[in-house]
Amino acid sequence: MKLLVSGGAGFIGSNFVRYVMEKHADCRVINFDKLTYAGNPENLREVADDPRYTFVKGDIADQVAVDALVEESKPDAIVNFAAETHVDRSIHGGLRDFVFANVMGPQVLCEATKKFKVPLFIQISTDEVYGSLGLDDRAKFTEETAFAPNMPYAACKAGGDLVCRSYFQTFKTPIIVTHCSNNYGPYQFPEKFIPQTVFKALADESVPIYGDGLYVRDWIHVNDHCRAIDTLMTKGAPGEVYNIGADNERSNIDVVMMLRNILGKEIQTVRVADRPGHDRRYAIDAAKMMKLGWAPEYGREKFEEGLRRTVGWYQENDVWVNQLRKRSVEMNPHIRVAV
Ligand SMILES: NC(=O)c1ccc[n+]([C@@H]2O[C@H](COP(=O)([O-])OP(=O)(O)OC[C@H]3O[C@@H](n4cnc5c(N)ncnc54)[C@H](O)[C@@H]3O)[C@@H](O)[C@H]2O)c1
Repeated sequence: MKLLVSGGAGFIGSNFVRYVMEKHADCRVINFDKLTYAGNPENLREVADDPRYTFVKGDIADQVAVDALVEESKPDAIVNFAAETHVDRSIHGGLRDFVFANVMGPQVLCEATKKFKVPLFIQISTDEVYGSLGLDDRAKFTEETAFAPNMPYAACKAGGDLVCRSYFQTFKTPIIVTHCSNNYGPYQFPEKFIPQTVFKALADESVPIYGDGLYVRDWIHVNDHCRAIDTLMTKGAPGEVYNIGADNERSNIDVVMMLRNILGKEIQTVRVADRPGHDRRYAIDAAKMMKLGWAPEYGREKFEEGLRRTVGWYQENDVWVNQLRKRSVEMNPHIRVAV
């Protein structure tokens, strides 16, 4: 099996590359990544010298480069993780980059899939395209929930997903789109919620919390997300959409409290003005995915264990963490990041 993985140098993509190469001895991976501030070849140091792994630097919005790579490598599947992903960055600057990476990028990959008859293209997307659920609401996002994105990042992801849908509806290009909830685990960029809270707590800095902190997310361990994508490579139906979540709804404040218990120290928080367009609650109905035989290993009852392992990983990999934290501030000094 030969996979073209785009965005494989980021958080979820690098976990996926490691996962599939370990699980499938016959799996060859070409990692196509632009290496933006979020991409880091160090994330894949364990496989860098494996003859089954190749890295190619490039932009998924560049049709000429993508066509040349797909025509030459003839992958059995393309899995696209490449995207501009940070919500605050999409609000405070650089929205054009989001349109190129998150809308144009998937279109270019759809076109290459169609032109070179790639058997399968999986577009990795997010539950944020569905907008927000109420705190007192019992509803969850299903694959039929209408898109209602509230932030520029989510709107661009929704645009990319709709382009994918149209390629299947119009040309029968074999594309699957996934909508996953919030991921946590090793190699997550240090400005994101869980790693940022850990680092600030360890450095005795206060953690900025948006608004009342009662924003609910359905946290999933990145390995469970990778296992779901692996399942879809063999059992998913082209033209279908699959929601991926761990049935693990937690408010931001609850997660901070759990991290306090794990770290065994107080975490000072400071309330900051809310993020504009901030979605109150996300929750995934993953029944369709589970019918394929997949289930999260780190569901609600094992969340604390998953968090504990993640914290342990960050503590053991402080060189990696400090390099990326420095890079994050240097590249976007004007962006304030809260959780
Ligand atoms: N992190 C989450 O909680 C989460 C949840 C659901 C869905 N997703 C989706 O999963 C995917 C991966 O998310 P992540 O958190 O790993 O992101 P990330 O920001 O950590 O990594 C993104 C990667 O894409 C690369 N990239 C960006 N623009 C590119 C371009 N134009 N061409 C080629 N490479 C480019 C970056 O260099 C980086 O390696 C995204 O599509 C995101 O929308 C993420």
